[in-house]
Amino acid sequence: MEEKPGNIFTFHQDVLQRSEKEKLLNQKSVCIWMTGLSGSGKSTIAKLVERKLHDLGFATMLLDGDNVRDGLNKGLGFTPEGRFENIRRIAEVNKLFNQAGVITINAFVSPTREIRALAKSIVGEAHFEEIYIDTPLEVCESRDVKGLYKKARAGQIPNFTGISAPFEAPEPADFTILAGQDSPEESAQNLVDYILPKIKLN
Ligand code: ADX
Repeated sequence: MEEKPGNIFTFHQDVLQRSEKEKLLNQKSVCIWMTGLSGSGKSTIAKLVERKLHDLGFATMLLDGDNVRDGLNKGLGFTPEGRFENIRRIAEVNKLFNQAGVITINAFVSPTREIRALAKSIVGEAHFEEIYIDTPLEVCESRDVKGLYKKARAGQIPNFTGISAPFEAPEPADFTILAGQDSPEESAQNLVDYILPKIKLN
């Protein structure tokens, strides 16, 4: 008879607590989760935020759609199932880094409320900060940095978020960045100002 995974694996409780690791790093290991359309500015802002937090003495890990999909999640597509598995794995990676006391900064389209709820439940609600990079579709499409919107409109990319696949805005996010009107530098600084009280150890 086939055994269920639950019968095979024994979960080992960590001996060292997350709080001890946070204390060593003198920070609270929050998960910063940016959601928004392709081309909304997530990656640009995430990089700037990481640089600013690093310069302030915080230990961080940046996880980004384009680089994670080229490594850990190579081969996963953009069907609802592909995105679900993409986000599930990334959330588990976040959990590991957060348990090590490290602040995570994520830049993933993560287009539906359901998929973000999944991430939040894996990471843990208490230290999950949902940040909406609120850039109108028209702006993302007019920028079209990677030329993907043009291809999606031409029917060459199926399931493209905002064109042939849904994007559901958070309602509400913990914090919203108006990246269509504020510069990347202003957007990053706004996010840093918001997050600082949450990552400082009292
Ligand atoms: S997610 O939906 O699973 O969260 P993720 O953030 O990892 O997406 O990847 C999004 C990036 O992949 C986009 O910025 C874009 O460059 C690229 N991409 C390729 N195909 C698609 C598609 N069908 N929909 C959205 N993004 C796509």
